[in-house]
Amino acid sequence: MIKKVHIEDLQPGMEIVKLSSEIWEHLPFLYTEPGIIKSKNQISSIRENGYLHAFIKLDNSSSESDEKRLDRLISQREHTPPQKIRTPFSQEIEVAQKTYKKAMVQAKRIVNDAKLGRKVDYEATIDTVGSIVDSAVRNPDTLLCLSKLSSYDAYTYAHSINVAAISVVFGEYLGLARHELIHLGAAGMMHDLGKTAIPARIISKRGRLTENEFDEVRRHPQHGCDILKRHGKIPEEVLAAVQGHHEKYNGSGYPRKLSKKDIPGFARILCLADVYDALTSDRSYKEAILPNKALAIMYGMRDQDFDTQEVQLFIKCLGIFPSGSLVKLNTGFYGLVYESNPTLPLMPKIKIILDEDLRPIPAKLVDLAAEQAVGKDNLEILECADPSAYKINLRPYLTRKG
Ligand SMILES: [Fe+2]
Repeated sequence: MIKKVHIEDLQPGMEIVKLSSEIWEHLPFLYTEPGIIKSKNQISSIRENGYLHAFIKLDNSSSESDEKRLDRLISQREHTPPQKIRTPFSQEIEVAQKTYKKAMVQAKRIVNDAKLGRKVDYEATIDTVGSIVDSAVRNPDTLLCLSKLSSYDAYTYAHSINVAAISVVFGEYLGLARHELIHLGAAGMMHDLGKTAIPARIISKRGRLTENEFDEVRRHPQHGCDILKRHGKIPEEVLAAVQGHHEKYNGSGYPRKLSKKDIPGFARILCLADVYDALTSDRSYKEAILPNKALAIMYGMRDQDFDTQEVQLFIKCLGIFPSGSLVKLNTGFYGLVYESNPTLPLMPKIKIILDEDLRPIPAKLVDLAAEQAVGKDNLEILECADPSAYKINLRPYLTRKG
């Protein structure tokens, strides 16, 4: 298992997990050099260099994989949502793609309006979010797939849509009403609007920020809230979610250092979606982390950044193999997860698309749980695979039928 620890708690012999990404906004001053900590001197030097946290591997002797352990943990949760009748993936994916495109236009518009000091068109945003909510209710996996496969060149806009979509999918899983999902999605679309008030050289800086620069960044949730207040008609819970999306469970977040249940509920949902999307997104300067690894990392942030129960539910909602993941099967073939299975997280529905040599094959839809139910349980997922390592663009496979 992976756990986030404070540098003061590091000990010689602990193994630092490889985490090449620098999602500085969420994990500032994170030490990421992988390997075993050799001495107290090494820890002193890490501390002197200003690092505050690291992710370590726990229980190296255990043969249980992160997937299996997470599966076991979330299966112990009592919350099992009622089975809902969903529109088939193949039917919804084209509608979801149009919704995503329309949302992209609106995301660019609100950022431009904010940059130019114009009023943000909240009504148009609500209209866009309404389509996202409808799509998420019909089939949440389509939006999760699209958010996983968005391209990095439009990251700023795609990220706001992804946070909205992932938050809405999780909110729907938790049983929120439609009007609540609309407010949650609107907050997701606009959560980082306050960054338009921060110098671009800081926002686009690669690598670690100075303390002064990070102070500037810490102001963006309040800036966002102030920009939206100028509109005059934004619901209070949307403002509170935007303002609170970087607060942390243990009170170490910003801007108000709120903790535990004092953090507004929608802000806690945005925070989970925000970190998950940041970890799993490709940027020009960093590679995406695989979804299952990202969820393991987030589980390692429990009781610090997130409430344990809430992060467990988030993992349960997305599944051990979230929609949009590429997985390697025990046959050597590769499949794209297109529908997670909340009851049996290790057995999602997959589309087998590549042979063992990564050559495209006619797509074959397989429901791993249904196969097992009829006694054909020889097919199983071995691990998540990294599409970027093989230079595979998965997006065309979402709609490809054969
Ligand atoms: Fe933010």
